[in-house]
Amino acid sequence: MREYYLPKALSVMESRRGYAEILRGRREAEIARRLPEVMEIRRRLAMTSVELTKLILKGQADFEETLEKMKKENLSLQQKERTLLLENGYPADYLELPYQCKQCKDTGYVNGTPCRCLNRLLAQLAAQDAAEESTLVLTDFSDFSLQYYPNQKDLKKNVVPREHMGELLRFCQNYAETFSGTGKGILMLGETGLGKTHLSLAIAKRVMEREYLVLYDTVSAFIDRAEGERFGRLPDRDTLGRMTTADLLVLDDLGAEYASPFGTASLYRVIDTRLEKNLPTLISTNLTAAQLQKRYENRLVSRLFSLFTTLTFVGKDIRQIRAAEGFTL
Ligand SMILES: Nc1ncnc2c1ncn2[C@@H]1O[C@H](COP(=O)(O)OP(=O)(O)OP(=O)(O)O)[C@@H](O)[C@H]1O
Ligand SMILES: [Mg+2]
Ligand SMILES: [Zn+2]
Repeated sequence: MREYYLPKALSVMESRRGYAEILRGRREAEIARRLPEVMEIRRRLAMTSVELTKLILKGQADFEETLEKMKKENLSLQQKERTLLLENGYPADYLELPYQCKQCKDTGYVNGTPCRCLNRLLAQLAAQDAAEESTLVLTDFSDFSLQYYPNQKDLKKNVVPREHMGELLRFCQNYAETFSGTGKGILMLGETGLGKTHLSLAIAKRVMEREYLVLYDTVSAFIDRAEGERFGRLPDRDTLGRMTTADLLVLDDLGAEYASPFGTASLYRVIDTRLEKNLPTLISTNLTAAQLQKRYENRLVSRLFSLFTTLTFVGKDIRQIRAAEGFTL
């Protein structure tokens, strides 16, 4: 997914550099008006650098000596410029190019490795697209209340739902907080209205804040878009490619999609490729293990249960509880 956003990110970087030039141009014009002697110093500084190049090219006998002399002169000129600026109420670096990022000078790279600011920009571009395209809206861990889960033991499942869900919540928070871009995925199982989508999207949000590239939507919306792109109904935004390469992919509501050959094949390919690359996928479904077995190839289902961390949601349908609360208000 980085490759998909890189050209756009680099063009943003280029405009940042252009903006720095424009800003400095304005500052130079201002200083030329108010402190012409500073501009004179800068002309002399520029000249010494030309002379230096000449000197190196000529390679004359007193090279070292002249070089030393020029260095000193240069330093004292620079010092003079700074002092003049400071004395007149300007920052000492007022005429340096005002890059947004000093580390990479808005090129996006430091010694050939991507700069922190480039990674942040890539994550922002991806987050913008994800929010625009997704049919789901991100949620927060802080809105996830344990009050909705019964505090009495569920005898059939042999757990106290509130305690069990508290553990799942902590697991998910920890997962988001320690997410590193590779590793195990999560399979969320459980009946309708128990908070699977809510927790998936809270993980997505936190991981995005940590500047990872995340894609989140329902399986059915992803397939619709991929199909639309494949058959020319939608502009090609490489939905399948991005799903395959995102740092984290959230596939919500597996099993609710319409079973088309294209959709099913795409789904298998995306999940398989991500497993091969050790990229985490977060899948939620309200199908039971048996229903999953029936609907999908055994190869996929066995992988889900052996390679993903399974979280089983318990409790009572929170949609209904909240609707009932609404009536009593
Ligand atoms: N623990 C919770 N605290 C507060 N709100 C919650 C909690 N769990 C779920 N909700 C809210 O209840 C509604 C249903 O939850 P959610 O969509 O996450 O359920 P789900 O398990 O994904 O259900 P389905 O299987 O039908 O997709 C949502 O509006 C969600 O924000
Ligand atoms: Mg859901
Ligand atoms: Zn940078």
